[in-house]
Order: sequence, then structure tokens, then C-alpha cells
Amino acid sequence: MTFAANPRRTSHALTQIAPDVAPLGTGGTGAPRTAAPLDVRAWVAEIAALTQPDEVVWCDGSAEEKQRLIDEMVATGTLLRLAEDKRPGSYLARSDPSDVARVESRTFICSRDEADAGPTNNWRDPAEMRVELDEVFTGAMRGRTMYVVPFSMGPVGGPISQVGIEITDSPYVVVSMHVMTRVSAEVLDLVDDGHQWVPAVHSVGAPLVDETGTRHDDVAWPCNDDKYIVHYPETREIWSYGSGYGGNALLGKKCFALRIASAMARDEGWLAEHMLLIRVTSPEQRRYHLAAAFPSACGKTNLAMLQPTIPGWTVETLGDDIVWMRPGPDGSLRAINPEAGFFGVAPGTGVETNPTAIDTLTHDVIFTNVALTDDGDVWWEGLTPEAPAHLVDWQGQDWTPDSGRPAAHPNARFTVAAAQCPSIADAWEDPAGVPVDAIVFGGRRASNVPLVAQATSWDHGVFMGATISSERTAAAEGAVGELRRDPFAMLPFCGYNMADHWGHWLRVGASLDADKRPKIFQVNWFRKDSDGRFVWPGFGENSRVVKWVAEQIDRARGVRTDSGAVTSPVGLLPAPGALDVTGLEISDDDLAALFAVPAAAWRAETDLTAEFFDTFDGRVPQELTDQLERLRERLA
Ligand code: OXD
Ligand code: MN
Repeated sequence: MTFAANPRRTSHALTQIAPDVAPLGTGGTGAPRTAAPLDVRAWVAEIAALTQPDEVVWCDGSAEEKQRLIDEMVATGTLLRLAEDKRPGSYLARSDPSDVARVESRTFICSRDEADAGPTNNWRDPAEMRVELDEVFTGAMRGRTMYVVPFSMGPVGGPISQVGIEITDSPYVVVSMHVMTRVSAEVLDLVDDGHQWVPAVHSVGAPLVDETGTRHDDVAWPCNDDKYIVHYPETREIWSYGSGYGGNALLGKKCFALRIASAMARDEGWLAEHMLLIRVTSPEQRRYHLAAAFPSACGKTNLAMLQPTIPGWTVETLGDDIVWMRPGPDGSLRAINPEAGFFGVAPGTGVETNPTAIDTLTHDVIFTNVALTDDGDVWWEGLTPEAPAHLVDWQGQDWTPDSGRPAAHPNARFTVAAAQCPSIADAWEDPAGVPVDAIVFGGRRASNVPLVAQATSWDHGVFMGATISSERTAAAEGAVGELRRDPFAMLPFCGYNMADHWGHWLRVGASLDADKRPKIFQVNWFRKDSDGRFVWPGFGENSRVVKWVAEQIDRARGVRTDSGAVTSPVGLLPAPGALDVTGLEISDDDLAALFAVPAAAWRAETDLTAEFFDTFDGRVPQELTDQLERLRERLA
């Protein structure tokens, strides 16, 4: 085994430091850190000794490094270069057909106490998991190169940012990390200065040299049927094995920025959430920042890149998937997007549905599992109304519109730098973040949930977030369409007990200045009538709902004095005429249907909510069980 020299320094004497911010309140465990002092070079050497790669390469995040790895992957067949005149600087990867989505059943939270993982996570004893992983990772990188990737989530050195180091044997992962995070040797300086950092180990689990020393040929998308996506929230460590798919392998994203960061945030008094972040500007040039939680593949990217249909309003993008929020010195909640790129779902993204995304994707994109056109470009369902007469599908097979199967995998993805999005806000890289004015919770619900409702208080808003359910999509394995609880859209992403997460939200809200505390809303673009037709047109028309949200903020601040809302059992609904539907062809019946709150169906929901709360063994905060009781009274 040869080690390429660490270009930075010879030895580190580093300590994983405990955060110097006191845990908020008493509900979080404020878990003591158990990590031993961790020296980066010693850690890298230890992982190399375990996984036995041919070579170790320290990455610096440079454009040359990215291009070199891309060229190597083109040569080995992992990436296919797209036509330079159609999609310059862009590539197509086709994954193994078994490795196309997040594997929630193989995602583990290994807290010392099972109750700290809670009923919504797969818990494993950390000591037992370490033994199991030791075996799995032994020799896992034989015959491969091991890359050491120092990365920052958020601008390097920013007050809300955090850093990590991912070790991986996948050049696809390194190149994707270049897009999705800030890969930089400067991160090693921060680590050297004692900044806490998250060690993250990833292997595709496909060694090229077996125990007998025999070398095997590589495949375009190496992976392993046996997968592990493992988190140790107390020691802030990530171990991922067997998959090259983004959500499982780009460890800065779901694993760090959500599962590990949520545990850090609980202990340090901030929030790590599965939310998009936008800046809305009114015709009067008033600005509003909205953070919105949606389950995977529920039109999140569309809202992040919304082109309003109502005149005079603009929406700028700050983030499409993850938001980190911290109470700021002025009592407001300040938010950053910790990512540097978008890893978006391609199918359904089209000129009609999301023109901004289409403009973002014109160059320098890595596509995964989309179809290839005969002239070297890409296609997916929904890109254009008509499919081309011939394609090569995501599995490399000839495809025609009569093939009877999708040309692109339903969870096919694009990986692209946020900076090349035409609607990106100039503030998107401001290390201090933006002040959040509204928090929005969404889900995909055919019935019951109104187009928009405003919470009557912070606690009511936390109750709304805690009780969201949504129909399942293709972003993770499982039956598409099935209704499942997805509190805060964090079901697969909360690194600790979900009920404690709600308690943490209650405490963070209480710590904010009452005038600056964000208002909380719930939205549902997906309501259907009895014929199964979507009642709301969605897409750009969602700006009408955004406008009402902004106007409600104005009303709360005394900027507007008209009354914009009426009460309902489930929250404040737009008063007659307050939702701007000018120019929209929607019947009064449809409008009424969008805001109907059928009491019997809602009473049944409250029974399900009570059952759901019961699964948390008494850990649900009293404020939320009180909210449930009050909702029942209002529905009675
Ligand atoms: C995603 C997801 O990829 O939520 O963003 O699955
Ligand atoms: Mn997501």
C-alpha cells in the first residue's frame, strides 16, 4: 500500500472538542461526548489499515482534481460524457439497478440508549455495530484507491457551518462531494485549530482483490447487496457501506447535515432540518425568508425555484433540501443552506413545471439514471411532453415510447452546483445566514389537509409539524403511495428520538424574541377530488399561497391592518378573498374543497395521532398532547 503524502502537514494532535454552547433546556440528553482525541492522520492510517486500499489520496477540492477523476471515470466507463454541444461539461452515470435510492431499512442510529434513537429509527447497540462493521470494512477497499475528502457544510469557517472528513473508495462520490459540499484543504486548518469535525467512512463494499490476492475486473457501478448506513450520534461518526447512491454515500448530506447535525443541534441549541430556503420579495420590495419542510420528492425543488405567476412577486433560491438555523444575537432565527449543490429528482422536472431547474441544468451536471438520447443528451419523463422516438434507458437498454417501462428511473437525479441556478439569491453564501420569517410544513395528502393553514401559536405549529403525514414517493425503497407519518419531513433523517426533537423545537421557539419568532404554516398542494383529480394547479400558482403567507407576516408585524384569516379547527385559513386567485381559473366549489376540514375524517386523524404519540412511550412533550386535546375539542 502506498500513501500519497498529505500535502498539508506531518502530524496533528487534535481533539474532538465538546461544543462550548450549553445544551438548551433539559429535554435534550446534552449527551457527554465520548469521542477519544482524534488525530486526522492517525484516523486515516487506521481506516487504511482496516480497509487495505492500494493507495491513499488526500483531496483538495481543486478543479484539476475534479477533472482528473472525471476523466478516469470516463475511461473506466463509470461516466459517459454527454455531447459537448448539447450539455457541455456534463456526464451520465448508470447505477447498478439495485442501488437507486436511500435504504431506510439499513439505516441505523447507534446511540448508547435505545430510547434515544426512538421508535422511528432502527437502533443498534453501538458496541455490537462496531464489531459488525469492523468485519464488513476489513479489506473492503482492496485494489481500490482510498480518497480523503475534507469538506465544509456551509461556507468554510462560518458561524453556522460545520466540517467533516469523508473517506471513500468511490471517485463518483468524491466528484459529487465537490459539487454538493465545499471540499477544501482549508478544512484541515480548521480541524487543526480544534474545530469539531465529523469523521465519515464510506466504501462501496466491492474490493477488487479477494482474500487469495486474485484481482478482479471492476464494474461501472460497484456496490454490495449488503448495505449499512450507520450513525453514532454521541461520537458524531458516520459509516456507510455497500452503496454508491447519493443519499447513502455523499455523507455530508443526509448522514451529516441531518442525522448527525440534528443531534449536534439538540445539544448546542440550534436546528438541522430537512427544509428548502427561499427569499420572497413583494412588489413593495419587502423581503420574507421561508424555510419549508417537505418529504422527499414532493415538489420541494419546484418551490425552491418557484417562478411566481402573480405579478410583481419574486422568489429567489437559497437552498433546496437542508437548512441549519441558529438563534441569532438579535433574537431572530438565522438560517443557512449547508450544501453547495442540488441533488435533485430529474423525472417531473420540465420546462413547464420548473423552468429554473431546466436552466440550471444546461451545463456541468452529473446525471444519474436518466435516459440517453441518440444525439448524446439526456431525457427523463416530464422533461418534454413527448418522449423521443428512441432512447437508451437508465439501464443501458434500447427504449421506445412503446417499451412499457420508464426510460429514466423514477428517482433519477441531477447533481449540480447551486451557484449556476439562475434564481440563486445573492445572500446564499452569507455565512451569517438570513432571518427566517416563516416555517412551512408540507406533505402529499389527497384528502383532509387544506391548501394552507396557519398555526395559531409556535406550539401549535410544532404540533402541525409533528403530525404531518404524506404519501410515500420513490426517493427511498418502499411502496409508493402508501401514507406514512413524516413529522417535520424528518422521519428518515432525525438522528435521535423524534419526540425529543419536538421538545427541542418548543425550547428553541421559546428562546427567540417573540416579535422575531417565525410564523408557522402547513400546506398541501396535492388535494384530490372524488374523481382523483388534483384540485389545485400547483407549480407557479403556489406563489398565491406564498403571497398569503407573506401578507400574514405583514399583518403580524402591523404592516397590514386588514383581516386575512378566519379560524378553523386545524388553524387559520385565508379569509374569503384573502387568497389571491386573480386570473386563475378555479371554481368556487374547488376553492371550497381545498379548504374543507371534514370533522369526522379529522377526528379519525386525531385517533391515529394519539396512537402515533403513544409509540413514543411518554416522551411526547406535554405541550403537544395538550394541542391534540384542544384539536379534539375544536372538532367535537
Ligand atoms: C433527497 C431525499 O434526496 O430527501 O433529498 O431523499
Ligand atoms: Mn431531501
